[in-house]
Amino acid sequence: MLRTVTATRYVTPLREGGSLPGLMEADDLGTYVVKYVGAGQGRKTLIAEIVCAGLARAIGLRVPELVLVDVDPELGRSEPDEEVQDLLKASGGLNLGTDFLPGSLGFDPLAHQLDPVEASTVVWFDALVGNVDRSWRNPNLLMWHRQLWLIDHGACLTFHHAWARADGWASKPYDDAHHVLREMATAAVQPQLTTAQVEAAVADVPDLWLEGEDGFDSPAAVRAAYLDQITRRLAR
Ligand SMILES: Nc1ncnc2c1ncn2[C@@H]1O[C@H](COP(=O)(O)OP(=O)(O)O)[C@@H](O)[C@H]1O
Ligand SMILES: [Mg+2]
Repeated sequence: MLRTVTATRYVTPLREGGSLPGLMEADDLGTYVVKYVGAGQGRKTLIAEIVCAGLARAIGLRVPELVLVDVDPELGRSEPDEEVQDLLKASGGLNLGTDFLPGSLGFDPLAHQLDPVEASTVVWFDALVGNVDRSWRNPNLLMWHRQLWLIDHGACLTFHHAWARADGWASKPYDDAHHVLREMATAAVQPQLTTAQVEAAVADVPDLWLEGEDGFDSPAAVRAAYLDQITRRLAR
């Protein structure tokens, strides 16, 4: 279960990708990078973030804590940026926050060394979830207190964008040609991920974001479909 916090202040937009995450303060005195349910890909991005974070942690990789962030659109009222105002207006209620790692650096393969087992485990993980967002240009890896942290898994698990055509996903080869850790991933690793661990990762997604999915009659049925896709890919 993810914790739920209430946003108390919109600090600043983080303009890097197109999705316009925002830095927010919350009532637990935490600061979070918030991705909004009203953004382009909406809840699918948030679901992928949650499931992938759970899977990554289960194999020993570091991911900042995820929380559900209750957002009052009024918090955007004094924002000069109209795009931010519109985004918050469309995102009342629960959104997804990632614990902000203050002072973290973007991973730079020329500057940062990694243990080959860790690098290989990241590549193995990215192959499992089909992550195309780990390139040299856009690694989505942070160095914080000399350790590697994984962020930004919203573009993974692409099968959920078209369930009717989801079947080929499990056997789709992963192309690591542009992977930022390709050269460092020299260890042979075979991380263990149990069905129960996959189930737990999927269980972290709030029902709210699984309701009304086309072709499914309940959140439980959607969860079962995620579990099925991921365990089938694992088996290969
Ligand atoms: N937990 C975090 N701590 C510190 N900085 C972060 C964190 N999450 C994201 N960032 C910064 O914000 C940028 C955008 O976040 P990201 O999750 O990659 O969203 P997107 O690429 O979809 O816009 C990252 O590249 C990174 O610089
Ligand atoms: Mg990113």
